[in-house]
Amino acid sequence: MFITLEGPEGSGKTSVTKILIAELTKRGYDVLFTREPGGTPIAEQIRDIILDKKNTLLDTRAEALLYAASRRQHLKEKVWPALKEGKIVICDRFLDSSLAYQGGARGLGVNEVLNINLFATEGSFPDLTLLFDVDPEIGLRRIRKNRAYEINRLDLEELTFHQKVRETFLELSIKYKDRYRIIDASQELELVANNALKIVLDKLENGCK
Ligand code: TMP
Repeated sequence: MFITLEGPEGSGKTSVTKILIAELTKRGYDVLFTREPGGTPIAEQIRDIILDKKNTLLDTRAEALLYAASRRQHLKEKVWPALKEGKIVICDRFLDSSLAYQGGARGLGVNEVLNINLFATEGSFPDLTLLFDVDPEIGLRRIRKNRAYEINRLDLEELTFHQKVRETFLELSIKYKDRYRIIDASQELELVANNALKIVLDKLENGCK
């Protein structure tokens, strides 16, 4: 089972994930948690290039290709082997982030970015995608308050960029409605985590749509 967690900045998905992993492990599931961009030493090096605030000249297509390259390396080295061993892989961001950020917000086009990613992933899609949906004004306020020390190159974009990210995620949730579940991430962390856990358990236990 390949589960991905998506959402705009400050949706709280990383905090929720910690709770999710603990609850699944407590129930005896063999879970591998990982993240994008990164997740392996080579992919983490690509992450550093992409998110470095000094790289103001990074071209948008080059950025999209770097995300796809990092994704490929991560799939090959970590995700595919873990899935083969029967693990549940939970990944903080995946392909849909490229579609929303590079395809939608950067304006490269969702289909164009999907195409370079199909080359990178050989058509590997998640079984379940949780979209932690939150108004970017709330999300950005949260990250400025809670993790100002790790604000990256993309966090520095204008509010309209982040609004476009959210809009594209919501469009993707319609396009890929079979694997998408939307969680209202403006709520308290505990509520958000409970909702996420319920959806994941449903999928694991009943394969619910
Ligand atoms: P995060 O680790 O805080 O989620 O930061 C990763 C940043 O990279 C975040 O701003 C979202 C962005 N991103 C993309 O623009 N495209 C992608 O394909 C991925 C995986 C992340």
